[in-house]
Amino acid sequence: MSDFEQKRQAAAEKLGISADKMPKSIAIIMDGNGRWAEQRDEPRFIGHREGAKVVIRIVLDCVKMGIEALSLYSFSMQNWKRPQMEVDFLMQLFTRYLVEIRPTLMENNVQLIHLGRREPLSDELLEELDKSMEMTRANDGMKLGLALNYGSREEIIDAAKKLAADCVEGKLKPDDIDEEKFSKALCTADMIDPELLIRTSAEMRISNFLLWQISYTEFYITDTLWPDFKLEDVEKAIISYANRDRRLGGVNKN
Ligand code: IPE
Ligand code: IPE
Ligand code: MG
Repeated sequence: MSDFEQKRQAAAEKLGISADKMPKSIAIIMDGNGRWAEQRDEPRFIGHREGAKVVIRIVLDCVKMGIEALSLYSFSMQNWKRPQMEVDFLMQLFTRYLVEIRPTLMENNVQLIHLGRREPLSDELLEELDKSMEMTRANDGMKLGLALNYGSREEIIDAAKKLAADCVEGKLKPDDIDEEKFSKALCTADMIDPELLIRTSAEMRISNFLLWQISYTEFYITDTLWPDFKLEDVEKAIISYANRDRRLGGVNKN
């Protein structure tokens, strides 16, 4: 039994579900930092600061439960529309955070993968991002996809351009493009598609996250605001997931 399987079995036992019902891959839309702060009459950045503290705890919880891939939506390409002060604060927070979490990623054998475009992220942030990715490249535990300056439509367009360029150069025939080749051209190429997508703060939308990758993903939407999100919330989501009937287009066997 692999290390992942052993961990999933232990987690499943704790949750009272069968091990084969544990998701291997989870994606989270970490939403509600602003509302968390507003409820406390605090400026929005206080919510972002609290939200950042939750990230590493959830990463470690997922490692412990044998999750093989975790994708976290931390900043969308559409989030650049926010007030400059909020964007600047978030960029500084990400830059600092990327340095801070490095030892924890190493200790827990986590590989960091960037999801999203590099432009127009600052050189300073990209430097820390590259360092963290380089340092964790050989880690063969959980893959952590950090969606930072990410947009799914943009990702799909980039993949289409890459495949078209390969065709023009004669490396690929249009007829040979299939789901596998398309998946490999996305920034999630090395990750398994999410089986469970969690969105905090009750919003019932995708907000341009992993459109290709979630074609058969189970959704779990919780009222909990991201800064209040904790292990018990992940566990509730997993239990809900385990009780779904995933037909994947087929019919029930019973
Ligand atoms: C999520 O929280 C964090 C980012 C999008 C960066 P929000 O900032 O969107 O919080 P709400 O939705 O305004 O409460
Ligand atoms: C989605 O949340 C992006 C992240 C969580 C990083 P938003 O708060 O930006 O989504 P909308 O604007 O409510 O759709
Ligand atoms: Mg939001």
